[in-house]
Amino acid sequence: MKILVINGPNLNMLGIREPGIYGSESYEALVAFIGRVCVDRGVEVECFQSNHEGAIVDRIQAAYGAVDGIVINPAAYTHTSVAILDALKAVSIPAVEVHLSDVSAREAFRQVSYAGMACEATFAGHGFDGYRLAVEYLVEHHGK
Ligand code: DQA
Repeated sequence: MKILVINGPNLNMLGIREPGIYGSESYEALVAFIGRVCVDRGVEVECFQSNHEGAIVDRIQAAYGAVDGIVINPAAYTHTSVAILDALKAVSIPAVEVHLSDVSAREAFRQVSYAGMACEATFAGHGFDGYRLAVEYLVEHHGK
């Protein structure tokens, strides 16, 4: 099984940005964590991060026919991007949404998730472990 993990804007600043909300570990540490989770479960993984909405749309389109599942934390684009929602719907690849923080307990503007409307499940508020839960969800429901 091959999984693509997509992280959106400012997640490359993990460890520096608002550590009280997002933790003190870096983006590189997150990629290493995801890599270990995937090795343990026999999953091939690619991690992609971009601060640009169009680049995320391009990466989702390029995944068509090439991956079996997508784990996506669209970060701020979660709450604004119909383009990312449409890209996920266009490729019809099973997708799972992840947020490091518990967005449901935060500001009103974070209560809508466009990308989430194209995702089968959401794991929010579990920190890095949310990515493990998302990978395990895809293995359980779509593994081959
Ligand atoms: C986030 C939550 C978003 O609201 C925020 O804009 C982010 C990160 C999270 O992982 O908790 O950048 O997606």
